[in-house]
Amino acid sequence: MRNENGFDLWAQDYDKSVGLSDDANSYPFAGYKKVLGEIFDRILAGTGRNVLDLGFGTGTLTAKLYENGCKIWGQDFSGRMIEIAQEKMPDACLYQGDFSKGLVEELQAQEYDCIVATYTLHHLMDDEKVGFLNTLLSRLRPGGRIYIGDVAFETRSDLEACRVKSGDIWDDKEAYFVFEEIRQHFTNITFTKLSDCAGVFELWV
Ligand SMILES: C[S@@+](CC[C@H](N)C(=O)[O-])C[C@H]1O[C@@H](n2cnc3c(N)ncnc32)[C@H](O)[C@@H]1O
Repeated sequence: MRNENGFDLWAQDYDKSVGLSDDANSYPFAGYKKVLGEIFDRILAGTGRNVLDLGFGTGTLTAKLYENGCKIWGQDFSGRMIEIAQEKMPDACLYQGDFSKGLVEELQAQEYDCIVATYTLHHLMDDEKVGFLNTLLSRLRPGGRIYIGDVAFETRSDLEACRVKSGDIWDDKEAYFVFEEIRQHFTNITFTKLSDCAGVFELWV
């Protein structure tokens, strides 16, 4: 699993390597553009414009929301990713911090209409995901939504099929979402599958 230095090194080539995997329709980024597009559409279809992005990376999704009038907050542990994203969104409030230790203080002090995390929360183990998502639910304004786009599967057997198909490129150190398992911890959660290995979760209070 990459640490903050690994993501610093990946930052410059990130958009290109993700695009190649998505275009080839292969794990891990098959469906990447559809996932980000789906979340973008759902946020702009709502009325709330205060958005928190966790692990925003180069800001591919949030820069589009920013251009469309959203106020952006974010947390990422890679200094290089923050530099790239901040250049695209000069007025965004972006903070450096490891979300496995929670939200940085400045972000805990706010409430948000939408909280998004794309291709990031698989860095948390399943029990950590549940705890962190509960913290995030408590940061939503009334009517707010959490949108998670990631490598994800409806069932554990779908995940196992993808693991076999992907062979050596499968990353055993990442913990991907499985809808039939995560749904047991939340009252309000939906999953929309957008490729063989990706989809969008929506959660609300
Ligand atoms: C695969 S990139 C995804 C970037 C972007 N959200 C996207 O969809 O293209 C993962 C991002 O999450 C950040 N990240 C990974 N683990 C993190 C952690 N524990 N705390 C904060 N940021 C983290 C990385 O620095 C990187 O920018």
